[in-house]
Amino acid sequence: MTFKHDAVIVGAGLSGLRAAVEISGEADVALISKVYTTRSHSGAAQGGIAAALGNEEPDSWEWHMYDTVKGGDFLSDQDAAEVLAKDGPRVIYELEHMGVPFNRTKEGTIAQRAFGGHTSNLGEAPVKRACYAADRTGRVILDTLYGEALRKGVKIYEEFQLLDLLVEENQVAGIIAYELSSGEVHVFHSRLVLLATGGFGKVYKTTSNCFANTGDGVYYAYRAGVPLQDMEFVQFHPTGIYGLGVLISEAARGEGGILRNRHGERFMEKYAPTLMDLAPRDMVSRAISEEIRAGKGIDGKDYVHLDLTHLGKERLDEKLSEISSFARIYQGVEPETEPIPVQPTCHYMMGGIPTNLDGQVVDENQQVVKGLYAVGECACVSVHGANRLGCNSLMDLLVFGRRAGRKMEQDVQTLPWPTLPLEPEKKVQARIGRLLKNKQGEKAVILRMAMQETMNRFCAVFRSNEGLEKARSEINALIRRYDDIVIDNHGRLFNTDLLEALELESLLHLAEAIICSALARQESRGAHFREDYPERDDANWLKHSLVKMTTAGPRLFYKPVTITRFAAKPRSY
Ligand code: FUM
Repeated sequence: MTFKHDAVIVGAGLSGLRAAVEISGEADVALISKVYTTRSHSGAAQGGIAAALGNEEPDSWEWHMYDTVKGGDFLSDQDAAEVLAKDGPRVIYELEHMGVPFNRTKEGTIAQRAFGGHTSNLGEAPVKRACYAADRTGRVILDTLYGEALRKGVKIYEEFQLLDLLVEENQVAGIIAYELSSGEVHVFHSRLVLLATGGFGKVYKTTSNCFANTGDGVYYAYRAGVPLQDMEFVQFHPTGIYGLGVLISEAARGEGGILRNRHGERFMEKYAPTLMDLAPRDMVSRAISEEIRAGKGIDGKDYVHLDLTHLGKERLDEKLSEISSFARIYQGVEPETEPIPVQPTCHYMMGGIPTNLDGQVVDENQQVVKGLYAVGECACVSVHGANRLGCNSLMDLLVFGRRAGRKMEQDVQTLPWPTLPLEPEKKVQARIGRLLKNKQGEKAVILRMAMQETMNRFCAVFRSNEGLEKARSEINALIRRYDDIVIDNHGRLFNTDLLEALELESLLHLAEAIICSALARQESRGAHFREDYPERDDANWLKHSLVKMTTAGPRLFYKPVTITRFAAKPRSY
């Protein structure tokens, strides 16, 4: 079937919803989601959303901008960081007016708490900048924006999987999507397409990401010829539940939680004397991994303790109830009286589809791809640089989601309807046919587990040339083996076996893009730490990586970082 809409937004998390709310009324908008809208991964965001309101202590957008740039190890494009920090307070009041139930101070203003890397006076001390709704901040914003989207009459297609992006002569013409409930392949003919498909943490074995985070939008943009930016920068959140990766919010440390090794030592004193447990995530994750490597993990194993026992029942119940219940359910630990076993978990991709400040996707010549936009974790407007600060993601989604929506609202007035290619769904149908034809072979899950194991082992917190070369050859072998996989379920309705196989194709190629970018970058910056090149090297590497898919394999090139206010200098916390 062919659907026709002025604008198609793929992904119904916060950035997609925010853009849809902005543009609806001005254009006929379709929101396509691979899951039920309210199950989008934004709903898993826990600790807060950063904005310099100054409700609890003095703060300013300039300090927020500086922290974002410094936290990103000076790879952030500073025009983007300025937009984020300046627009932050407006976003919070807008959310409040929409009905988001933020926690309150005693005076009745929006309460704020400390988060890693957010400081007062350009690095002096932690500042309370994160607005929050207990530890369910993403959940309440998602539900509120969903209500707004319904109120505005956005047409939502749920459980539709993106399977191709139609781009002809540098102009988008729509998408191809697979309807999970019927097994039908549909064409969405459209003048504007916004990709808001989130991250791809499922490339890794240990991750806080949900099952749906398979990088669909990023991969289909890559296949369509768009280069991917800064793919080597993968954030490991310091406190995933040991063995599972499920997130224990940084808010736990913002409220006073302390990381301890097997000797009970508060080891962050050693690594970040000023901010300690509230240093940026790249530093805390490395510190935990160092302790574990030095045999100081709990019982010599690969985890440390997050100690919340001194916070008291009332604070845990009021501000950290969700993560307290996670500790009880998944670890059998009572956080009021026992420390929680934690280890770093893949959490966030700083890299993705390159865009300008209005969400327009740019190609390798820095030219806008007409009608194509990207926002949120799948995009790289490059506000987070080499390492994102906690609580800057939700703000990114809303600031740049709105900007993309506004730009689309303008563009829909002028962009002509593109012509669809002949039988646009044919290639996707042929791909599905090829996957279903094999009677014997390996199952997708075997390849997926091997990929995740490889990425965790060689391309996580610590990296080296030797390990990355191993990873590259293993992932390349998996890409070859993928051609012969077998799918048991040949049914049409809710064929998740087929869906997972299709998602695996995206994950494997994104893993390859991460590895190639990481191999080339011979320095350590933010979340990319090379044991063979442990120093940051601004003379040679203060630049963005771009990787382009070619028939000869990924091709790398670079572009400069936008520096407006803050010259790069060594980071200490
Ligand atoms: O720790 C957290 O609550 C995560 C927040 C974030 O990634 O921004």
